[in-house]
Amino acid sequence: MISGNGSNLQAIIDWVEAGKINANIACVISNRPDAYGLERARNAGIEAICLDHKQYEDRETYDQALLTTLDSYQPDCVVLAGFMRILTSEFVEHFSGRLLNIHPSLLPKYKGLNTHQRALDNGDDEHGLSVHFVTPELDGGPVIIQCKVPVFKDDNADALAQRVQEQERSIYPLVVHWYCSGRLKMNNNKALLDGKVLPDNGYAND
Ligand code: GAR
Repeated sequence: MISGNGSNLQAIIDWVEAGKINANIACVISNRPDAYGLERARNAGIEAICLDHKQYEDRETYDQALLTTLDSYQPDCVVLAGFMRILTSEFVEHFSGRLLNIHPSLLPKYKGLNTHQRALDNGDDEHGLSVHFVTPELDGGPVIIQCKVPVFKDDNADALAQRVQEQERSIYPLVVHWYCSGRLKMNNNKALLDGKVLPDNGYAND
């Protein structure tokens, strides 16, 4: 599920096409008609669906439409790749344990929006990204892996975003690969890799 450029989607498509992820991407759904990621999906021969949230009267109705559409594909995994909407707890619970998200901060720092600017405003000397299972708490589900990047003195939010996104493109496909090879699970609100509970900040602490 996407809302924009779809660079994370592209990275996952590339890994699938290279045989590095044992999966079939059944469909790509965007809530925005102009999301470039829809074109990336079509170029890869993947069904590209737009469910425009503006056409629905409220969040519950929209999320029900999303859920019904996704269920028609019986997905083993639902990957949020820059999907910029808060999901209802009904939706999240329906896909519990199958729902992954990438967030551009070192969670639990900077949940929500404008993470790069907030890291700069706070004078942080490191920033990064987190991949996590989605639970009803916004950006609060168990972390699977984090990746840190340095913050330099003359950075602006765009430069920092680019540095984070470069890392996203290798980390997210790796996590999807773990999931699709049966190594990654969620149990009792914890992320497990190869049956072992991952620490609060995920695999690869350093
Ligand atoms: C990524 O940086 C991702 O971490 C972020 O949106 C961007 C999407 O880029 N996600 C969130 O902020 C989720 N709250 P992309 O469309 O090029 O993959």
